[in-house]
Amino acid sequence: MTNKTEYNPLSRRAAAALQRLLPFLRPKSAADFTRLPEHVAIIMDGNGRWAKRHRLRIALGHRQGTETLREIIRHTDDLGIRSLSLYAFSTENWNRPREEVAALMQLILDFFASEIDELDAKNVRILILGEKDALPDQQRETLLSAERRTARNTGLRLNIAINYGGRAELVRAAQLLCDDALRGRIAPEQINERMLADKLYTHGQSDVDLLIRTSGEMRLSNFLLYQCAYAEFVFPKTLWPDFTVHEYDKALQVFAGRDRRFGGRKA
Ligand code: FPP
Repeated sequence: MTNKTEYNPLSRRAAAALQRLLPFLRPKSAADFTRLPEHVAIIMDGNGRWAKRHRLRIALGHRQGTETLREIIRHTDDLGIRSLSLYAFSTENWNRPREEVAALMQLILDFFASEIDELDAKNVRILILGEKDALPDQQRETLLSAERRTARNTGLRLNIAINYGGRAELVRAAQLLCDDALRGRIAPEQINERMLADKLYTHGQSDVDLLIRTSGEMRLSNFLLYQCAYAEFVFPKTLWPDFTVHEYDKALQVFAGRDRRFGGRKA
């Protein structure tokens, strides 16, 4: 039997993790920690450049990037952040060299083989964003099994985008709404933003509050287009395999200092 903990943003583990961070951060006040984002999205960029810099094969850059991924997931869970969305493989990534695609597909298998027990024990709920049907059988089954196994977990919502494109997600949502309309479940003029959001992979989760893209690139690259409407963007220069928990904390600190008005005005 695994010992699952209920999601609790102020759990003792989260408090202890924050305590450990304090010496590294210079918050305007400790109250900044009350301004953690509810939903963080990360574009894990720079694996290729990291590999080149170390004169290694690209596949080893992605492998090293997976090590960073494990640390960042653990830390996000420790902090009590509600949702974490990671861009692991885009619909455009199929155009990369065959060996690189094969390496990424293998990493998906390796990652779930080594992490699923811990993630499940920590009450993490895994959701795959993207078209799983187009993936090789082994990968599809692994991802489906991770989703099924953690479906009732109530902790961190871990969204991993694989064979994902933001525009494709919106097209899919439009198709699902059309289907509802054709079956007479809704009238087209009733369709509103909430109904569209409910047809996205991330339905039931809040919009992205903070988007981090490593490696200095400043693009959204078709990631969570709808959900990022009011996201704060932070672009650390560090390549993903070198990205540390300390730098993640700095990005969270930048977020805490941002003035979010959502198109309105300060009172
Ligand atoms: C972008 O770096 C990164 C990717 C396309 C893949 C990211 C995947 C992982 C970190 C690991 C696999 C995920 C799981 C869930 C096991 P890039 O190669 O485009 O970097 P570059 O711009 O420097 O070439």
